[in-house]
Amino acid sequence: MDIEEWEEYRYVAEGIDTFVRELGDSYLKNMVGHVCNTGGKRIRPLLLLLSSEACSASYKNSLDAALAVEMMHSASLVHDDLLDQGLIRRNLPTASEKFGPSQALLCGDFLIAKSIELISPYGEKVIRIFGKACMDMAEGEVLDLQLEEKEFSERDYFDCIYRKTASLFEVSAAIGAYAAGADMSLAKRLGLFGRYLGTAYQIVDDLLEFLKMLEGKESKHESETLIHIYMREMPEEEAVRKTVVCVKEYVHSAKEILGGLDPCSTREKLFRITDYMTLDLLDTAWSKAFSE
Ligand code: IPE
Ligand code: IPE
Ligand code: MG
Repeated sequence: MDIEEWEEYRYVAEGIDTFVRELGDSYLKNMVGHVCNTGGKRIRPLLLLLSSEACSASYKNSLDAALAVEMMHSASLVHDDLLDQGLIRRNLPTASEKFGPSQALLCGDFLIAKSIELISPYGEKVIRIFGKACMDMAEGEVLDLQLEEKEFSERDYFDCIYRKTASLFEVSAAIGAYAAGADMSLAKRLGLFGRYLGTAYQIVDDLLEFLKMLEGKESKHESETLIHIYMREMPEEEAVRKTVVCVKEYVHSAKEILGGLDPCSTREKLFRITDYMTLDLLDTAWSKAFSE
């Protein structure tokens, strides 16, 4: 079954629809609608809801937290497109292209504020880890900008992608667990799963961008990435292979954690998401390249 057909996905989609509809005559309604309601895989909120379910709670108590992570993610994309001079996202002009940079900046601020409102009932522990991940995201983007000015090591790269991407995946899974009343050890384990998945996903996204195989996205700025670091020492083909091996290692670690959970349909969905965001993207890109 397609991820878009899962009940958790529909629940998130309806939550976002309702949020946009209830903006009423807000000045930002058009732009927020453009950013939130025009696709996107909604992986982080799904991770959060599935993580709650994996901890034996109904995902329905976690919806606002799931919407909070999605709004924060959307805000980060709007701001990222300002930094990267993004032109196309989700097959459409970016908010900054369509509405101008000043409006896009404010739209990002608005979504961050909404996200804080949505997460606030979930208690101090959740608010603190969420706040920390969001600060990491800003730090990660600063590191990304610095990549242009100095020679980046592998360690710098992993620090950058942990902060800008994997931290929000990690915290999404951990918040789902905490919202379900899970203990710290289980929440941390699920968080680590999210971290491995987020890391693998960003490496794949970077690799496909480098190979010009990313669909629906376009920006003027390209980051220095793992493949560039490997290419300092080896030819491109070998660097691609090494990058894919690295993705597979993170996928393996993510799945090892899932393997330790009780077997159930939720765990299967988490396995499915793991492949969907990593190995499936690579397979699709390779098979398109070979059929051309
Ligand atoms: C884009 O994230 C930013 C990266 C981490 C590469 P997603 O690919 O999850 O963005 P949407 O929400 O599905 O468009
Ligand atoms: C990821 O950076 C964006 C954030 C985590 C905020 P990228 O610049 O690599 O992502 P895309 O390729 O624009 O989606
Ligand atoms: Mg970008």
